[in-house]
Amino acid sequence: MSILIAIDGPSGAGKGFLSQALCEKYSFAFLDTGLLFRATALKSTLKGVAVDDNKGLIEIVKNLEPSDFEPINELRSEINGQVASKIAVLPKVRAALVSYMRNFAEKRLKQGVGAVLDGRDIGTIVYPQADLKFFMTATPEERAKRRLKELQNRGIPVIFEEVLQEMIQRDRRDRERQDSPLMAAEDAIIIDTSDMSPADVVALASEAIDKALA
Ligand code: DC
Repeated sequence: MSILIAIDGPSGAGKGFLSQALCEKYSFAFLDTGLLFRATALKSTLKGVAVDDNKGLIEIVKNLEPSDFEPINELRSEINGQVASKIAVLPKVRAALVSYMRNFAEKRLKQGVGAVLDGRDIGTIVYPQADLKFFMTATPEERAKRRLKELQNRGIPVIFEEVLQEMIQRDRRDRERQDSPLMAAEDAIIIDTSDMSPADVVALASEAIDKALA
């Protein structure tokens, strides 16, 4: 079961949902790499480390602790997502985070446990040799609708138009950055989730996994 699965795509495309569903179904280990960027971002804000301070940010990455992943509302907030996306353009900070990701995956694979990593550049840069790659997409409007619902469910008051605009801005930064931009690997299975039910998405991915495991 030492299979490595990369799931990439923009925010709100359904990566988190699919990753968790697959991990429950196949007992894979899961690393939400966006949360790594978000934990670094939140800690930098709290410590007053600037979004372009390579040294300060790398120090934060090296000292990330389990408790840094706990304040989930602050981590998932739109504003922290924007900070994460700004930090994500810095090659040296990305390199430190990529080491963290590879350590996580290598450890699980050595234990014979499959691993799912979701992010923006897993199939292209972090693990171009991944056994399976999925690239998830959906229209910006559909993704913003989902994001709005998620934030409202957490009791965070938000306006659709603002969520949409912030999402478009963040996507642009993630797609246009020089180092490891958001894009599909050539051999990725593209899943456009705009008009798919969650069950259909899981079924489609499971079919590919069952084939890879057979
Ligand atoms: O998936 P997310 O919205 O939680 O990610 C937050 C930001 O982190 C995203 O806008 C870009 C960055 N990120 C990245 O550059 N590479 C990854 N593998 C994961 C996230």
